[in-house]
Amino acid sequence: MSRPTRQIVVDPENPDASAIDEAARVLLSGGLVAFPTETVYGLGADATDPAAVTRIFEAKGRPPTNPLIVHVDRPESARACAANGAFDGPIARLCDRWWPGPVTFVVRKSSLIPDVVTAGEPTVGLRSPSAPVALALIRALGRPIAAPSANRSTGLSPTRANHVLKDLEGRVDLILDGGPTTVGIESTVFDLTVFPPRVLRPGPVTLDRLLAEGLHDLQCGIPSTSDPASHPTPSPGQLRIHYAPRTPTFWVDPADFSRFVMAGRGGILRFGELVDSDDHRFGRSERLATPEVAALRLYEVLHDLDDAGLDFLVVVPPPDRPDWEAVRDRLWRASRPALMS
Ligand code: TXA
Ligand code: MG
Repeated sequence: MSRPTRQIVVDPENPDASAIDEAARVLLSGGLVAFPTETVYGLGADATDPAAVTRIFEAKGRPPTNPLIVHVDRPESARACAANGAFDGPIARLCDRWWPGPVTFVVRKSSLIPDVVTAGEPTVGLRSPSAPVALALIRALGRPIAAPSANRSTGLSPTRANHVLKDLEGRVDLILDGGPTTVGIESTVFDLTVFPPRVLRPGPVTLDRLLAEGLHDLQCGIPSTSDPASHPTPSPGQLRIHYAPRTPTFWVDPADFSRFVMAGRGGILRFGELVDSDDHRFGRSERLATPEVAALRLYEVLHDLDDAGLDFLVVVPPPDRPDWEAVRDRLWRASRPALMS
């Protein structure tokens, strides 16, 4: 079913109140609004409205087994989404430290959050985004917003409003266009139902940083993984091909690159500072020098390469180091190993 998609341009730092109110009205009437967070654009619905949340799954073509992240404006609002006691003491302090920001915490859920949001899991992923447009929208609605990335399931995540339009025109009621996002890669998802916390999806904040800042506090209240009563949640969204371009995309290890044989017009995406003379063999070449720049620009560059009408894309991954982990994870999901002769 197709419906007209409207777009409103908003100031990303200081969004116009009438635009935000308009978007909140769409959400209140059960509609879908795409909006910028600091990571990627989200496809939002009122998290307490099961029918609206069902529309997210339909619009994305997302399997109902993949749970959504619930966005809140502050830790106190998260408490209402979490089971009694699941948000006390150390976890609340962790949220005070990391929110608002690109960090999602999975905890046991309360009955405020319908089962459709969490794909029937007893847990919920909670995040307080720092982007002013997202925060203003949550506050104007006065309720939590369920929002996955605003792309068709298994497609590339959107970091600009035109990426959303390309994928979801006719499937979303309103897009708030707040320009490019400022982090560029999805939040880190930490499972806090086990100790030590588990990374379900690597992202801008590493486990080491989480551990270094405040974790010694955390152990009380979280069951140990060795505790037979604890049931670590699997990571339902972590499919091998998940964030993939439409263009066939191949992962080629740097050691194998010299043996890569080309037929057709390809694009190449490389990482780090070194310039390689081989790049000129490709119709398009892009290089992202540092982990921060790579996170910020990865999806934009992949969208551009994907729209360039190339026969294939080659990804030469960055080194297997903690600072590149989140970017490597997204590249791995976007590609398939090249068969080398
Ligand atoms: O940065 C982000 O996280 C963006 C913005 C819009 O906030 N959202 C996002 O949502 O990337 P999505 O749906 O594309 O990815 C959510 C990930 C999935 O891998 C999902 O399986 C996992 O979080 N997740 C959500 N709730 C979960 C839960 N209760 N247990 C385990 N994993 C969960
Ligand atoms: Mg996604």
